[in-house]
Amino acid sequence: MNANRKPLVAANWKMNNSVAEALALVEEIKRQAAEIKGIEIVLCPPFTALPAVSNAISGTNLDLGAQNMHWEKAGAFTGEISAAMLRELYCHYVILGHSERRTLFGETDASVNGKVKTALASSLRPIVCVGETHAQRQAGKTESVVSVQVREGLNDIGADQLAAVVIAYEPVWAIGTGKTATPRQAQEVQAFIRKLLEEMAGARLAQSVRIIYGGSVTPDNARELFREPDIDGALVGGASLNAESFLAIVKSTG
Ligand code: 13P
Repeated sequence: MNANRKPLVAANWKMNNSVAEALALVEEIKRQAAEIKGIEIVLCPPFTALPAVSNAISGTNLDLGAQNMHWEKAGAFTGEISAAMLRELYCHYVILGHSERRTLFGETDASVNGKVKTALASSLRPIVCVGETHAQRQAGKTESVVSVQVREGLNDIGADQLAAVVIAYEPVWAIGTGKTATPRQAQEVQAFIRKLLEEMAGARLAQSVRIIYGGSVTPDNARELFREPDIDGALVGGASLNAESFLAIVKSTG
């Protein structure tokens, strides 16, 4: 953590929770989060639960995000959701380029870049996910893989706009596996990402961008991760499906 950047903890519910389940979970989170200040807490439910969750968190200290969107404004794109549709539901964030979307649904750095541009043009803050596979780490390619993802995913975006971007470093081998990156491993890559941002847009901008960590974050390992200077929060999957564990992670930022 760094006092100059506001911590951000986001819940990525993935393809979990019916509307009723989402509402029950939100009520619990709302209750437990009411006193928390100085941390951005973002809930990213599946599309179907966005309207209900949006309504339920209105006027609270919780914010809303989506898990994906399309890069075009509108048109014949069956099954897709536009930035304007998300804005209409008071979404302020959108997760883009999650590794599950890259590996299972063919997302590329070019499509991520298109989505980031459209999100920014629509006043949605993108949470751009990057990270290497186990094989890439073993082959010593972590920095080159992450470098391509960051440079191409954020290609042609002005420094003023980059300030609204959040980067989530999510090593693929740590997602849903219970194998968290050590604080040192995560810090190394996140400091590297900040250096890349500095090369791309200058030191001032690089210092202002939140870089969060994702991959098997739990109440047991969060505090240690957040002690690192370049870890500004977390993108939480499994542990965000339970109010108690999610809030314990949120509180570990303080
Ligand atoms: P887990 O926390 O379940 O490992 O998921 C991480 C993730 O993919 C968040 O986007």
